[in-house]
Amino acid sequence: MNTKGITLTRHILLEQRAHPSETGDLSTLLAQIGLATKMIARAVSRAGLVDVLGVTGAVNVHGEEVKRLDEYANQTFIHVFGHSGLVCTLVSEEMEKPRHLSENCSQGKYLLFFDPIDGSSNIDVNGTIGTIFSIHHRINGDPHGTEKEWLRPGSEQVAAGYVIYGPSTVFVYTAGNGVYGFTLDPSIGEFLLSHENIRIPARGKTYSINEGNYPAWQPPMRSLMDYLKEKDPETGRPYSLRYVGALVADFHRTLLQGGIFLYPVDTRNPQGKLRLLYEAAPLAFIAEQAGGRAGTGTERILDIRPTGLHQRVPLLIGSPEDVALAEAFCAGRKKRDRERRKQP
Ligand code: AHG
Ligand code: MN
Ligand code: MN
Repeated sequence: MNTKGITLTRHILLEQRAHPSETGDLSTLLAQIGLATKMIARAVSRAGLVDVLGVTGAVNVHGEEVKRLDEYANQTFIHVFGHSGLVCTLVSEEMEKPRHLSENCSQGKYLLFFDPIDGSSNIDVNGTIGTIFSIHHRINGDPHGTEKEWLRPGSEQVAAGYVIYGPSTVFVYTAGNGVYGFTLDPSIGEFLLSHENIRIPARGKTYSINEGNYPAWQPPMRSLMDYLKEKDPETGRPYSLRYVGALVADFHRTLLQGGIFLYPVDTRNPQGKLRLLYEAAPLAFIAEQAGGRAGTGTERILDIRPTGLHQRVPLLIGSPEDVALAEAFCAGRKKRDRERRKQP
C-alpha cells in the first residue's frame, strides 16, 4: 500500500473494516485522541515559552508532585472527551477516582484510561516525553459504573497506543490488527503513516533499566544484569545500556530496534513502579501485537486482573527472546556464566 499521505484518520477508517461491529465510534475515538495529543504536542513544543513548565504545587494520588504540563494534558483529555458522547468514564494517572462524563454514566460505549504525560521528570530539561492510552468497551449497564467495569484485564482492550513527543511527534496504536506509527507533519497538522505494520526483532542488543536501583533489586535481577554485561560474542554479549527515563521513549526504541525494557520490583517499589491500567497493559498489547512479549517476570501482563485503579506491577517488555531470558532468570532456571561454571 502506498503509505505516503495516509492520514491517521484515513488509516483508522480503513482499519475499521476489520471491526465490522465497531459502528465507527472507535474510529472517532482514536481520531479524537489524535486531536488531543496534537494539542499537547503544541504545548510541549513551546513549553519554555508558554506557562507549562514547573510544578502546580499539587501532589497526585501517587504522592508525586504534579507538573503544569501533566495538568494541562489531563485537562485537554477531559475537554476533548467531555461532551463527545463516546466515552462514559475517564481513568487518568492524574485523577484519584474515575471521572464519569455523563449523568449516570448513561452515554459512551468506551472507557478511556490514560497517562497524560509519561516521563514528567524530563519536561523541564527538554527530554522526550509521551502520552499513553488504553481503550476498553463498557461492559455492563450499571448506571453509575462499577469497579468491575474498569478493573479489566489487558487482554480485553479494544485498542491501545502512545504518542511520543521527541524530535518528531509519533502516534503509535493497535486495534488488535497489527501496530502502526504516524508522524505528525506540523505544516499541515496531520499525523501521516510512517511505520507500516511494526514488528519487533526476535532479539536485540540493548537493555533498558535504571541501574541506580541495582542494590535494591532481588538477586535474580542482579544476576540477569551481570549476565547481560558479561563478554561473550557467541551470545551477542555484552548488551548496551540505553535509558531515557521516560517509559514511552525507552519502549519505542525497544519496539523498533529490539532488546528489553525492565522496571522490576525493588526495595522501594515492592510492587514495581509502573501502573498496570494506563502504562503496562497498553504497551503490553502493542508489544504482543508486534510479536513481542510483556510480563512481570512470573506472569503475562495482559492476563492480570487488576485489583486497584492505580495498581503498580513489575514490567519486563520487549523482544520475545530477551524477555523469555529475563523470565528464566526470575524463575531461577538460568544463571550467569560464572555461577554456572562454579556449579559441580
Ligand atoms: P510518569 O512521568 O507518568 O509518572 O512516569 C514515569 C515513569 C516512566 O515514564 C519511567 O520509565 C519511570 O517512571 C522512570 O522511573 P525512574 O526515574 O525511577 O527510573
Ligand atoms: Mn507514566
Ligand atoms: Mn504521567
